Amino acid sequence: MNFSLTEEQQFLQKTARDFARAEVLPQAARIDREHKHPTELVAKMSEIGFMGVAVPEEYGGAGMDNVSYALAIEEIAAACASTAVIMSVNNSLVCDPIYRYGTEEQKKNWLPILANGEKLGCFAISEPGAGSDAAAQTTVALPDGDDFLISGTKNWITNGPVADVCVLMTMTAKERGHRGITAFILPMDTPGVSTSPPDDKLGIRGSKSCQIFLDNVRLPKSAVLGEVGGGFKVAMGTLDGGRIGIAAQALGIARACLEDSLEYAMERRTFGKPIAEHQSIQWKLADMATEVDAARLLILKAAYLKDAGKPYGKAAAMAKLFASDIANKAGRECIQIFGGNGYVTEYPAERHFRDAKITEIYEGTSEIQRLVITNYMAKGK
Ligand code: CAA
Repeated sequence: MNFSLTEEQQFLQKTARDFARAEVLPQAARIDREHKHPTELVAKMSEIGFMGVAVPEEYGGAGMDNVSYALAIEEIAAACASTAVIMSVNNSLVCDPIYRYGTEEQKKNWLPILANGEKLGCFAISEPGAGSDAAAQTTVALPDGDDFLISGTKNWITNGPVADVCVLMTMTAKERGHRGITAFILPMDTPGVSTSPPDDKLGIRGSKSCQIFLDNVRLPKSAVLGEVGGGFKVAMGTLDGGRIGIAAQALGIARACLEDSLEYAMERRTFGKPIAEHQSIQWKLADMATEVDAARLLILKAAYLKDAGKPYGKAAAMAKLFASDIANKAGRECIQIFGGNGYVTEYPAERHFRDAKITEIYEGTSEIQRLVITNYMAKGK
């Protein structure tokens, strides 16, 4: 077993860390305060290859592996969780399915412009009545000549208000249940597509999400992603990879909690010494550091399995379950260490605490991750 990163992975990690500290961190509080989509940061991330990290170079991507991708997300999330999820959705939920399930024409049409930042993507599976129960799709796509006519409503769509293209799940044959679900690549400027005002959220306030309304949206058959009726497998396969991205985002948040807590604890004095010298604080810091390392190992294992072409769904679910749990714990402890200063917006602790919560919900709640893990175990995997 080799725990070392390759030179390429180390280079990518350092590039991400330097960029995150110099460009992203100084803006993180303002992005949160103003609920602002970080347009300029996304443009800069595109320039350094971060919007298509694992997209092969022949399709305009950075051509790196999924380990590098997870390392990059961790660094960006440690600076700004909102910016990290914008990157994660474009990479994991849009570029990845188009690369894995798309036709050659779809790959050539979409991947270069998604990777270079010309276009931004979103992924629409959730509906008012289909969150955890993802197969309960009610957005219908009815054949109409050589086209499909699509109507329905999608909920909580990350990047929705600013996206140019959407990987969209629909129901083409209700009687077939999950085997009646079909995925499409939907340009967001197609007539009949509209969006609600952005959601007003607890955390990741710089990441815009909204409802998408589809009113008799006409798409050609060439917009089907994968097979007609094969959309549920596209969605589940995509979310397996997405969970690595969200786990890495959660890890970044947890690491930010640890680093900010440590710095604060070395400076803040009570009872005549820095609070870092009190055992009550030392135990918190030691637990946070141990959990951050354990989460990273789970994430890198899942990314490594994906790169190796081995099954990684269970590993990705475990990584997301654990990383999102420890990020929330780290958020709580960070506020506790900062004390009164943790509860006010002048310090970053409360932002970390708010940003962490969503990682236990999107791309499969923690309850769904446990279900996925148990399903694998029941099959002896
Ligand atoms: N890869 C490929 N196929 C898979 C799969 C996977 N990981 N998991 C399941 N399937 C297949 C099964 O093999 C089965 O196929 P067959 O019928 O051919 O045998 C089929 O899918 C149905 O499987 P299940 O019976 O297990 O499906 P289910 O209806 O019980 O649901 C579930 C399974 C795991 C609960 C699923 O519904 C799920 O993952 N729910 C959570 C949804 C989710 O993560 N939503 C996130 C929204 S996106 C988001 O959050 C983005 C954002 O904003 C950032």
